[in-house]
Amino acid sequence: MRTVKVRFRIERCEGPGKPSFWETFEVNAEPTANVLSCLQQIAANPTTVEGKKSKPVVWDSGCLEQVCGACTMRVNGKVRQSCTALVGQYVTRDGEEISLQPMSKFPVVRDLLVDRERMFHNQKRIKGWVPIDGTYHLGSGPKETPEQQEVRYKLSECMSCGCCLDACPQFEKVEDKSEWDTSFIGAHSISLTRLFNSHPTGSVLANDRLEVMSGAGGVSECGNAQNCVKVCPKEIPLTESIAAIGRAVTVYRVKKFFAGKK
Ligand code: SF4
Ligand code: SF4
Ligand code: FES
Repeated sequence: MRTVKVRFRIERCEGPGKPSFWETFEVNAEPTANVLSCLQQIAANPTTVEGKKSKPVVWDSGCLEQVCGACTMRVNGKVRQSCTALVGQYVTRDGEEISLQPMSKFPVVRDLLVDRERMFHNQKRIKGWVPIDGTYHLGSGPKETPEQQEVRYKLSECMSCGCCLDACPQFEKVEDKSEWDTSFIGAHSISLTRLFNSHPTGSVLANDRLEVMSGAGGVSECGNAQNCVKVCPKEIPLTESIAAIGRAVTVYRVKKFFAGKK
């Protein structure tokens, strides 16, 4: 297969709080090569197009098949997984350029590597799991209809990549951890709330999740811009999840009111 000389313009940063700067590298790549394999070539010879010896670019990856979300970055300005971003999707002629930048809503650790701790913190806040007591035999679980399974299977495909958060105008970069619990939680946790609240066993924690969703930074802060659903690589119906949790929060608040709780 013919290779193409592709230029990678990369936004770099040597550590938290340090200024960012751009460097351009050139690699020979087949159109079917993914961005990560090009970064590996750059790491083996980190010399810029101006001939300056630089340091290998830092990035994260895991599965290499769009399952773990670790390699998420902005490619030509759009947030996506770099393991499935193929050279041929962006360039066809020698000398054409692809830009790589870190995600914009999480603190940069170095170069293209960001710290997505806030997203996982939010996942813990909404108790994004099915509680089971492994100390005794639980028997078979409750039955679910095929229709219920179909809805939840799609929601369960979320790989916590953070694309929906990066593209969301309401989800801002918040580095101060003391503000995490009152800043907008984003589509990722909203959809996981729907997933676990609709699970027959997971629903035992439904009110705890709805309490988070009805508080500061909860579902009502969604501005309905719908960027999230457009960038989700798993095509999860996030706007349906937002609407479903919005309705559930309303019912939860009414019940709470009549129960005499504030
Ligand atoms: S619909 Fe809500 S969560 Fe999705 S991008 Fe818009 S503001 Fe963000
Ligand atoms: S909902 Fe989609 S975009 Fe958001 S974290 Fe999950 S897989 Fe990624
Ligand atoms: S390396 Fe896992 S999604 Fe790209």
